[in-house]
Amino acid sequence: MSTPVLTAVAWPYANGPRHIGHVSGFGVPSDVFARYQRMAGNKVLMVSGTDEHGTPIQVQADKEGLSARELADKYNRQIANDLQGLGLSYDLFTRTTTGNHYRVVQELFLALWRNGYVVAKTQLGAISPSTGRTLPDRYIEGTCPICGYDGARGDQCDNCGNQLDPADLRNPVSRINGEKPDFIETEHLFLDLPAFTASLGEWLSTRTEWRPNVLKFSQNLLDDLRPRAITRDLDWGVPVPLDGWRDAPMKRFYVWFDAVIGYLSASVEWARRNGDADAWREFWTSPDAKGYYFMGKDNIVFHSLIWPSLLLGQNGAGDSVVPGGGPGAFGSLNLPTEVVSSEFLTMSGSKFSTSRGTVIYVHEFLEEFGPDALRYFISVAGPENQDVDFTWDEFVRRTNYELANEWGNLVNRSISMAHKNVGAVPRPEAPQQADTDLTALSAQAFDVIGGHLRRSRFRQAATEAMRVVTAANRYLSEQQPWQLKDDPARRDTVLHTALQVVSDANALLTPFLPHAAQKVHEALGGTGVWSAQPNVSDVEDLDEPGRSYPILTGEYAVEQARWEPVPIEVGRPLAKPKPIFGKLDPSLAETGPSWAPIKTD
Ligand code: MF3
Ligand code: ZN
Repeated sequence: MSTPVLTAVAWPYANGPRHIGHVSGFGVPSDVFARYQRMAGNKVLMVSGTDEHGTPIQVQADKEGLSARELADKYNRQIANDLQGLGLSYDLFTRTTTGNHYRVVQELFLALWRNGYVVAKTQLGAISPSTGRTLPDRYIEGTCPICGYDGARGDQCDNCGNQLDPADLRNPVSRINGEKPDFIETEHLFLDLPAFTASLGEWLSTRTEWRPNVLKFSQNLLDDLRPRAITRDLDWGVPVPLDGWRDAPMKRFYVWFDAVIGYLSASVEWARRNGDADAWREFWTSPDAKGYYFMGKDNIVFHSLIWPSLLLGQNGAGDSVVPGGGPGAFGSLNLPTEVVSSEFLTMSGSKFSTSRGTVIYVHEFLEEFGPDALRYFISVAGPENQDVDFTWDEFVRRTNYELANEWGNLVNRSISMAHKNVGAVPRPEAPQQADTDLTALSAQAFDVIGGHLRRSRFRQAATEAMRVVTAANRYLSEQQPWQLKDDPARRDTVLHTALQVVSDANALLTPFLPHAAQKVHEALGGTGVWSAQPNVSDVEDLDEPGRSYPILTGEYAVEQARWEPVPIEVGRPLAKPKPIFGKLDPSLAETGPSWAPIKTD
């Protein structure tokens, strides 16, 4: 039975290259999940793109002396390359400045509007007295009116989690230059969040499989839902499709409003690009479809409350419905099955940030160490349930002892011995208890680890997979096939068993180590694509001829990787294997690489 599984990955801002903190939140976990789901025989649609509107882009563009669009073009391409290099298997990684995205955002908005979930109101907006420009919410700081926390931002208090309006803050100051903002009256559109309180509460009460902190955090916010502005005084964003708003030069949708709709617009774009414009529906409207959303913890509220409200509103399914209301152009859309959020990867205790200078860029990391060592580190030691401090020491330890010594060595010695003694996969004779125990262990691991992966327990899954590897190494040390020159039948049985477990473990590790898995597949005499990789290609905008942009996509249907033990083929020729994982110089643990040296002060 094949289930449609939407894998919805948070959209990185196109305001800089990605660092390893970013990809440990949304990137690697979502890809491990998607690859597992494909191997398990489900239909996966994995979508995302760069988030290119709003102040995060505008502010960086000002810094670099570029227009917002130039900045977005520059980093959209760099980010697509970063993610491709990591092997993140998107069906479509696009961007929010496409004609398709604009159309889908406006269409979804109109459904909300017709269903009565949007109200226009005049509010106080912050202006910088020195420049006369609008001051975006998140660039205002002050004291939280609810909990008294000093560092609350104009959009949200990170201490108590409440959403705020900048005018609520006590002692507001601009984070850009420290001045006290002026507040002036301006008209905006608001999403009537309180109109979803009961519907959201009911839905959340059925989400019992979520990580408890994510669920509790979301449920707590239900007590104080207030209307949220979905427009801004800004000229960079999706225009509002209403008379009087459409042509207003300084009224655009708020970046978070358009960004979350990206999950839907990217699915629609994927369908249109693949010649079946309705193919997205299977992932969004069929009752058995599942939708998993991956992100860092600072994104939870947008995925657990705001996006579900937009979906409920589009469906005409809030707490009350206006007469004549009902589903909009997209039909009745599914709410998220699960919101999977990671904590932060920190470096020396501080959240990875470019401003503090503690930054390890993905592209530099990949150039020196390749993708799988990072993917493994993030999976087995990443910030799944708590903040984790990245250290080179731990990275060296995981790479050298677990990937090189344990896994690389098992692959290498099993295949080398079989190659040297038989030249092919040996035929097993009478298996003994130790042999069947080991193959049973690796066969059972598929269920256990699959269960962890379905629930996004990546650390446990990776740890269990390595346990199979350790057991196989112990088996070889005990059986000592190299001592069995006089008993070739027994030797061949042991080598056959070892190769079978190498093949099983390779399948179990494929979601984490897809590049290495392809090499192991070939070292075992396999041909063709075991695990497929994404590619970057330039395509034309579907609605604005003449504009083109890079997308990430891939041919995942051809891959052979399956989530089950597959009997290895006796007699298949084996060549002398090349090492799969190189060892890192232990001094890296003390110095760090030249491009991100460990600071000793
Ligand atoms: N760009 C946002 C961030 O980096 C994430 C947007 S996720 C989406 O925090 F759902 F809005 F797309
Ligand atoms: Zn607070």
